[in-house]
Amino acid sequence: MIEYLELKNFRNHNHTKIHFQKENTFIEGLNGTGKTSIIEAINYVSTLKSFKTSDDNALLQHKKPYFRIVLTTDQDKYEIVYNEGKKHLKINKKVYQKMSDFIANFKTIIFSPEDLNIVNGPPGVRRNFLDMTMVQIDKPYLNNLSIYKKVLKERNALLKNLKASSDMTFLKIINKRLENEADKIIEKREEFIKKLNKAFKSRFKSFNKNDDVELVYEPNVQAKTLESVLNGRIKADLLLETTSAGPHRDELLLVYNKQLAKEYASQGQIRLITLSLKLALLELYENKEEIVILLDDVLSELDEVTINELSKILKLKNQIIITGTNNKYKEMKVLNLDKKENQ
Ligand SMILES: Nc1ncnc2c1ncn2[C@@H]1O[C@H](COP(=O)(O)OP(=O)(O)OP(=O)(O)O)[C@@H](O)[C@H]1O
Ligand SMILES: [Mg+2]
Repeated sequence: MIEYLELKNFRNHNHTKIHFQKENTFIEGLNGTGKTSIIEAINYVSTLKSFKTSDDNALLQHKKPYFRIVLTTDQDKYEIVYNEGKKHLKINKKVYQKMSDFIANFKTIIFSPEDLNIVNGPPGVRRNFLDMTMVQIDKPYLNNLSIYKKVLKERNALLKNLKASSDMTFLKIINKRLENEADKIIEKREEFIKKLNKAFKSRFKSFNKNDDVELVYEPNVQAKTLESVLNGRIKADLLLETTSAGPHRDELLLVYNKQLAKEYASQGQIRLITLSLKLALLELYENKEEIVILLDDVLSELDEVTINELSKILKLKNQIIITGTNNKYKEMKVLNLDKKENQ
């Protein structure tokens, strides 16, 4: 569990220090007091990425040259300093040069209002969700992904340089290489989604017994077919200067009572679907009790019944940190940012 968090020059947190207690924490405060930023910083220690922006400079407090996050769990101490575009990383005072070695040592599951885009947004959001969670659970997957992306980039660069009359030998070699890498990704995604789907369905049932949800993986191409698909599309790909098939075009459908959730489910239902999906991830981790659950602004739009149901998850062994403008749970320790206590 997290015992201590210190933020320096991180968004509106000039210098915030928080000691967490054994009980779960409800971070309360008016709009703009920095609740989400705390969740963002904790999650950053896990992924080295903000869930709100891909630009680390946006996290820097205005005109400050660096930000610093220190997070101490009951086992380890994590330190991140971001300065002049570079991340300086330490675990237990040991310097980590590679981000990939640092990522996912400290693990979180996060739910935030942005996550509603997993249901509502375009396929890229769902692929990103899939990839970001898979790398936390299956470390080698990060390597699979980066090799695939590298070969894909090479292929796209080549497409820009070739003409219809050029020799296609090298392109065909790349098509084969891309298939090899694609197959690893498709296979891993298939396996992961199968497990996640099972946990997702049962987690959703725990909130709502009357309705059904399902995750459906729709790979853009089946395994062992990408080479021949790409060989058949050379003309079109040359014209568009991009690779029109492969796992970078995969889709993951969220289905609610046999209909597409995006088009059919209500706002509150979409919130519950997304929350169930996130909580289901817990079942896929080893040592799942160590995972910190971060729920940013989870209560808005949920009805009383669901809020009461949600209180059951507070009985999980995991540390849970919830933000909101108004605490609904008496069993939680309240940290009020308006009063600047604890800081
Ligand atoms: N880089 C930055 N430097 C300084 N302040 C920032 C920076 N980025 C955002 N802010 C401000 O920091 C505050 C933090 O917002 P945050 O999203 O954490 O608030 P919140 O408590 O979650 O509010 P809400 O209840 O509306 O969700 C906002 O007032 C925002 O304008
Ligand atoms: Mg917020």
